[in-house]
Parts: sequence; C-alpha cells; structure tokens
Amino acid sequence: MMKDLECVLYTKEEIDARVKELGEQISRDYAGKDPVFVGILKGSFIFMADLVRAVSIPCSMDFMSVSSYGSGTQTTGAVKIIKDLSRDIEGKDVIMVEDILDTGITLNYLMGYLGNRRPASLRIVTLLNKEARRHKDIHLDVAYTGFHIPDGFVVGYGLDYAEEYRNLPCIGILSSSVYAPDGAEKKE
Ligand code: IMP
Ligand code: MG
Repeated sequence: MMKDLECVLYTKEEIDARVKELGEQISRDYAGKDPVFVGILKGSFIFMADLVRAVSIPCSMDFMSVSSYGSGTQTTGAVKIIKDLSRDIEGKDVIMVEDILDTGITLNYLMGYLGNRRPASLRIVTLLNKEARRHKDIHLDVAYTGFHIPDGFVVGYGLDYAEEYRNLPCIGILSSSVYAPDGAEKKE
C-alpha cells in the first residue's frame, strides 16, 4: 500500500498528537455539557474512535452514513442519506465528526439536515480541511480542524480510494498513477 503513495503527509505519531489536542480542546469547550458525537461513515470511523477516547467529559455517539462520491476521486455533487441517526437530537449539543472537508457540499447539506431537528448547538470536527477546493457559496466557520492540507487526493487513517487504503496508519497523497494509470489528467 505504501508504494501507492506519492508522499506521507502525516505519520501515525503526528496524527495521534493532533487528535489528542482536539479531544482536549473539545473537553474544555463542552465542559458541563453532554455532547453527542455524530460520526459520518465510513471515512470518520478511525478518527472518531481515537477522538472520543481523547475526550474526558461524558458524551454519547451516533452514526450517519451518506454517499456523495461513488468510487471515483471527484464528488458527484449529490448527497444521499444511507443511514440516519438512531436517536433524537433535539436539545442536544451535536458535534459532527468528518474525515475530510473538501468542497463542503456534504457537511453543508448535513448542517441543514440536522439543524432542522433543533439541536441546542451544532458544530463540526474534521480531521482534514482542503480549503482550496471549498465551493465559494459555502461558509463553514463552525469547524474544529485537525490539519489544513493542500489539494490532492489523500488516503489512510479511514480515508479511502475505491474502499481501499482505509487501514493505512498514516495519511498520504495517493499517486495519480493509481487512479489514472495511463497518465490521463484527473477529471474535474
Ligand atoms: P465534500 O462534500 O466535497 O466536502 O466531500 C467530503 C467527502 O468526500 C469526505 O467525507 C470523503 O469521504 C470524500 N473525500 C473528499 N476528498 C477526499 C480525499 O482526498 N480522499 C478521500 N476521500 C475524500
Ligand atoms: Mg466521508
């Protein structure tokens, strides 16, 4: 798997240190509350598992599954809910947990979707943020961010390409030769 990476962006140790900081910050900010972490499957499952163990206040967890990508590297623009929350979030402090904020379409949609259920508050924690690709009309200033990353397709630590590479302990940029083997330009 490592040979398919163009480069490693963050090692396991660097990720662990940053996730611990995020957990501590959230524990301070939500002291006295009992937040619900909502993991957006599947990409966030490893990040969520590490993050909640770095949180020292009472909290609960739920999951949603959405699809916007198919198996390629470019978004289709449409967000489909595959699995919804199993509990009501009205009056709760909700923190959505995402692997990566790319165009922002997924989280923007989910902010509206979950916002309609009248949570006491709604924030996002995303491990990675590719700000360069954010759609101009989307303003997500409610996010805790692990790392700001340059454009490029990344895999590892939960992030996949065609369902593979999620189990890489580090995060790296996938070689374009993996998804464009004939050297073709990446499609926009
Ligand atoms: P957005 O709606 O464009 O912000 O896309 C968010 C989702 O796209 C993430 O939750 C990922 O599942 C997927 N995604 C976006 N960029 C990457 C990437 O570089 N590697 C792997 N998945 C990605
Ligand atoms: Mg995802």
